[in-house]
Amino acid sequence: TAPSCTLVIFGAAGDLTKRLLMPALYNLASEGLLAEGFSVVGVDRAALDRDGWARGLTATMNSFTEDPTAEFYTPQLDAASWGFVESRLDYLQGDFTDAALFGHLKERLGGGNVIFYLAVASRFVGDLVDRLGTAGLLDQSAGGFRRLVVEKPFGSDLPSAQALNRRILRQAQEEQVFRIDHFLGKETVQSIMAVRFANGMFEPTWRREYIDHVQITAAETVGVEERGAFYETTGALRDMVPNHLFTLLCMVAMDPPNSFAAEDVRTEKFRLLQAIRPVPPEDAVRGQYTAGEEVGHPVPAYRDEHGVDPASATETYVAMKLRIENWRWAGVPFYLRTGKRLTGRRTEISVHFRPAPYRLFRDTPADHTTPNVVRLLIDPERGFETQFDAKLPGPSMRLGRVCTRMRYDDFFEQKPSVGYETLLYDCMRGDATLFQRADAIEAAWAAVQPVLDDWGGRTDAGATYAAGSEGPAAADALLARDGRSWLPLH
Ligand code: BG6
Repeated sequence: TAPSCTLVIFGAAGDLTKRLLMPALYNLASEGLLAEGFSVVGVDRAALDRDGWARGLTATMNSFTEDPTAEFYTPQLDAASWGFVESRLDYLQGDFTDAALFGHLKERLGGGNVIFYLAVASRFVGDLVDRLGTAGLLDQSAGGFRRLVVEKPFGSDLPSAQALNRRILRQAQEEQVFRIDHFLGKETVQSIMAVRFANGMFEPTWRREYIDHVQITAAETVGVEERGAFYETTGALRDMVPNHLFTLLCMVAMDPPNSFAAEDVRTEKFRLLQAIRPVPPEDAVRGQYTAGEEVGHPVPAYRDEHGVDPASATETYVAMKLRIENWRWAGVPFYLRTGKRLTGRRTEISVHFRPAPYRLFRDTPADHTTPNVVRLLIDPERGFETQFDAKLPGPSMRLGRVCTRMRYDDFFEQKPSVGYETLLYDCMRGDATLFQRADAIEAAWAAVQPVLDDWGGRTDAGATYAAGSEGPAAADALLARDGRSWLPLH
């Protein structure tokens, strides 16, 4: 069970709270991991009271029993577990810019353990932390812990991230700051460390001598949904690359940490991010979707989505080539791509090995140059696949590609989860392993800063791609330039 604490959620009436935080708390309650003394205070401008807020959350929780295909589905809402959370909810209406709000909060909280969860847009974070600090709410001298959870994107480029880190660290110690990236809450992402560092058979080949290149993909079929206004100023690069995709990159490419202590793991991630050569603009491709189809239904162009400028230059797709300048990876390109409205939903890492040193089977048409691919399947398929060549049946010696696939669900029973369970639980226990340290956040922004600078002044949409396609042709050209190609998305 986690230590007793109060979770204060700023942005309590928002989407994150009802879609992710509440289901995560419910799942923690059903595992018996929340302390009896646990409580939640929701803070938001919305004109609600405790009962109104709780009623809305209960309605959303009930809706999770309706759609078995939804990302979070539970056949039945366990009344005792939801009751545990629901009975501990409280609501405080107020404006984050109003100093009086923080006075009320202070009275209500007293001296116990508190986690302040900032489920608010990045531009509000600095002010909010200043006000918490000024009100004395981050002071731990009375004995109770005071922690801050900050959502991504953390800043919007290197200078703003540096400024935000400086500002937060004037009010709190680094140990009090938990910068969240929900990809680290995914079992399959955490498992990459297990696969690499608990087995003797992978790590010896996990380096430049054996690996040709690595592809990291986070393809989505959805468009911008109701988030047009947020996405317009964010775009695919800021939304996904220095955070989620770099998280996957760290997992697959970092050196083995000395131990699994938070600082050892975070230090290795930082070292890896620091080794990325800042990406030159010619190694990055941006794209925007035009009208097309999603599973047989016509869908509009990005520029026609709700909340989007009809002349928008915001990218909904990004691909880039990364070079990592260290001994393990020198000369091994890492190709990253992510986008909305692509033909398949797939988050995965594929590690493409070099061909065998000598081609013994000369009569076999070489339809593939690197037959050995290891695929780490993150979402929605979750597993591990290896591809290699075997002999085709018949009198002559000819080769054919085969694969073995492990699916997590075949081996381990998994309860439905939203990915925030472990992260919230770790924050309550004070384990920062799965959270981003200030230096890593800044190293990540530094790597993509030349691209941000180059794209900043653009007024055109860049390369376009039809909704429901594999992405822009320019992304294929990025790999073709090096004599390589993406794994297909469909
Ligand atoms: C979020 C982005 O952080 O991650 C979204 O803001 C994106 O645009 C989402 O859709 C992807 O996460 P997941 O877990 O659904 O792959």
